[in-house]
Amino acid sequence: MIINLITPLPEIVELCRFGILGKAIEQEKVKINMINIRDFSARKDRRIDDTTYGGGAGMVITPEPVYQAIQTCQPSHIIQLDPKGTQLTQNKVQQLASFTNITLLCGRYEGIDHRIDSYIDEYISIGDYVLSGGDIPALALIDAITRLLPGAMSNPDSHLNDSFSSDLLDHNHYTRPQAWRNQMVPEVLLQGNHKEIDAYRRMSAIGNTWLNRPDLLIGKKFSQNELALFMKFVQNHNE
Ligand SMILES: C[S@@+](CC[C@H](N)C(=O)[O-])C[C@H]1O[C@@H](n2cnc3c(N)ncnc32)[C@H](O)[C@@H]1O
Repeated sequence: MIINLITPLPEIVELCRFGILGKAIEQEKVKINMINIRDFSARKDRRIDDTTYGGGAGMVITPEPVYQAIQTCQPSHIIQLDPKGTQLTQNKVQQLASFTNITLLCGRYEGIDHRIDSYIDEYISIGDYVLSGGDIPALALIDAITRLLPGAMSNPDSHLNDSFSSDLLDHNHYTRPQAWRNQMVPEVLLQGNHKEIDAYRRMSAIGNTWLNRPDLLIGKKFSQNELALFMKFVQNHNE
């Protein structure tokens, strides 16, 4: 997969060198193609921002360098990171992971001149708050996409139970030591009965969702088995 990253802050790509993302780049599962908007500035000082028409505080990124940067990526699916965009979800990440070429356009200052709109395929926001640039949202998106690419994670099943991969949060996880500060690992996880472990994990996922994100359960149809697990979780929780 090729991800073109159009940004006025190319140093951000350094943060892609670590963890699963760094390995995926090394193994050429994903290529991050960095495009510095400033390379397309007509000005000697490489500035890409100017004052805002109508007056007021803050600078705006001029459209021409952005347009030229976009042209170097075509054909591609052009995504602008912007607070006005559709809020990012795991479903959207899964959908984008199936593309072979996407372009992430990062704004800064007050944003990019509105006339660039006609060259954008979609807008994505990472939440209802404002960051100073689109680079951190773009990194979040790159990371979320890359871990879904075939072979990016050593265990291909690792993300199947991740929160939001289905309509539930993840189940609880435990590692050594078995007893830690008076807290024990649940007995069922130590006994090697995979059917019971699966049932425990399903119960834990349903329970975690009920406790932390009950909104995800609205309209969800539980099987008889899941209902029984849920009742068991509630009972354990109330004891
Ligand atoms: C300071 S923000 C501009 C905010 C803009 N004036 C507004 O109020 O919507 C600069 C850039 O950061 C990025 N950005 C900020 N918050 C974001 C968010 N929640 N999701 C995605 N991108 C964001 C966008 O690329 C934006 O152009």
